[in-house]
Amino acid sequence: AQVEKGGHKHFMSKEIAEQPSVVGNALNHYVRGGAIQLPTELDFTKIERLTMVACGTAYLACLTAKYWFEQIARLPVEVDVASEFRYREPPMTRGTVALFVSQSGETADTLAALRYAKENADQIVSVVNVAESSISREADISLPILAGTEISVASTKGFTCQLTVLLIMALHAAHQRGHLTAEQLAERLDQLHTMPGLMNVALAGSSAVKAVSRKLASATDILFLGRGAMFPLALEGALKLKEISYIHAEGYASGELKHGPIALVDKKTPVIVFAPSDALFDKTISNMQEVMARGGKVLLITDSAGAQQAGEGVWETLILPEVDDALAPLLYAIPAQQIAYHTAIAKGTDVDQPRNLAKSVTVE
Ligand code: G6P
Repeated sequence: AQVEKGGHKHFMSKEIAEQPSVVGNALNHYVRGGAIQLPTELDFTKIERLTMVACGTAYLACLTAKYWFEQIARLPVEVDVASEFRYREPPMTRGTVALFVSQSGETADTLAALRYAKENADQIVSVVNVAESSISREADISLPILAGTEISVASTKGFTCQLTVLLIMALHAAHQRGHLTAEQLAERLDQLHTMPGLMNVALAGSSAVKAVSRKLASATDILFLGRGAMFPLALEGALKLKEISYIHAEGYASGELKHGPIALVDKKTPVIVFAPSDALFDKTISNMQEVMARGGKVLLITDSAGAQQAGEGVWETLILPEVDDALAPLLYAIPAQQIAYHTAIAKGTDVDQPRNLAKSVTVE
């Protein structure tokens, strides 16, 4: 097993480290000669609404992609967890395409949701890792994410490869729908091609993450905050942490802090904030000040401009390279995963096989 782990102690750390290369593979598969390669049957000029359905981490990839499809392609998106969607019997109007995201391609709830949508949506698209899977086979169009086999129960490279494919789809949609010129699209794709390199820089920061994770390991509750597309990443950071370290964690939209979670903040509560220095950074700073004023410990994950602007009082800061707004969830996923991994190691839990969880949930 040591050989399969390629020198890593756990599959999870191996899979985290593989992300620059597998994200690069997905990119090279879907972007060739500067042009996006997606099936011609996927025609976003005919699509009026996208309904995205998934479970777990794949659901959080969908929530992230909602920001991209809506902001960049101006395409309305609805996102739901499969277990709710399948029984909710949602009406699906003409022009609706249903998109199912699943690493395994076998999750029972997602498959049942797909079968419901088959009778109600114009087209069924799936984004899967396992190409020979039910969710892949039963869709009209199936797009592989090319992450390679993912063994650790907690999904890491599956998540970032899902994001990569969904972002390429959103850029394609934006171009087809007239919201990005050929030139703007080319520029966006050039930026996307810098992602594997940026991820390598983030991975190199692991010793700082390890040090802060040792301090996080004694916490009983941890809050994760983010705005915009960093909000779903806050949810993913919290999910990852609770899955493998068993520390209670909650993800919140930064702006919701005052509507509840702030009541939890005291000097024992670390608050992890994902905040690249974007247009909304000022608002995030004021959220952090609200936390610090109550003695809360802020772990800020940002770029160097953000670290400077944040000023004094921040407990710990992790610095990532500067990145285009749309790409930030892909890059910031790395420290989110590393925090969960190193905190779990510090606690001595079984990282690859957390209690009560399964890699693929094929029963309801
Ligand atoms: C399980 C796994 C998660 C995964 C979820 C959805 O809960 O432990 O890591 O995100 O299933 O799985 P899927 O294969 O459909 O992406």
